[in-house]
Amino acid sequence: MPTPVDQEIKLDPKRYIVSKTDAKGIIEYGNDYFVEISGYKESELIGKPHNIVRHPDMPKVAFKLMWEHISKGDNFVAIVKNMAKDGRYYWVFTEFEPKVDALTNEITGYTAFRKAAPKKAVDTIAPIYKKLLEIEEEGGVEASEKHFKGLFEEKGMTYDEFVNDLVGNKGLFKAFFSAMKKLFS
Ligand SMILES: Cc1cc2nc3c(=O)[nH]c(=O)nc-3n(C[C@H](O)[C@H](O)[C@H](O)COP(=O)(O)O)c2cc1C
Repeated sequence: MPTPVDQEIKLDPKRYIVSKTDAKGIIEYGNDYFVEISGYKESELIGKPHNIVRHPDMPKVAFKLMWEHISKGDNFVAIVKNMAKDGRYYWVFTEFEPKVDALTNEITGYTAFRKAAPKKAVDTIAPIYKKLLEIEEEGGVEASEKHFKGLFEEKGMTYDEFVNDLVGNKGLFKAFFSAMKKLFS
């Protein structure tokens, strides 16, 4: 894993970062922008587990919940801090989508569509992740999951709803995002 560098990569708000994996999260495809921003060569990404871009500031519980949803065949949205090969970071709003075989109903893989996360969303979520990470360091992912659940119970909303609200994923934005997803599906 590269050493994290506390420097942000500025993302083009108009471009999408798309990747596809097999059912185990092994990268099978990345669009040009994914390759460009990650700083890796395409050949370094294909065949690798998707945690190649994992940033150590991300709490484990976020991915645990993501996998719980997508492995059941549900979509999931998240705000994720990723790390490039040179250690710099970038924040993305990500929608994860399972691909289900129409005949067997089995999950054959997953696609992730990402856009630059708005600053307001990052400012809200970063302290929540920091706290979850601290809890994880003390009491493991069981402890951070309890905190996570308590937090969203208190807010009276799910993490998905919270994220969609934060990034304004509704109306035109949502329609455009769906259209982009269809292009890549
Ligand atoms: C389609 C897809 C896209 C993913 N994209 C990312 C990503 O951009 N960043 C990330 O850290 N993990 C991503 N993951 C999750 C990783 O597979 C992994 O679960 C996560 O990085 C946690 O790594 P760890 O289990 O080694 O802690 C993605 C998974 C899938 C299925």
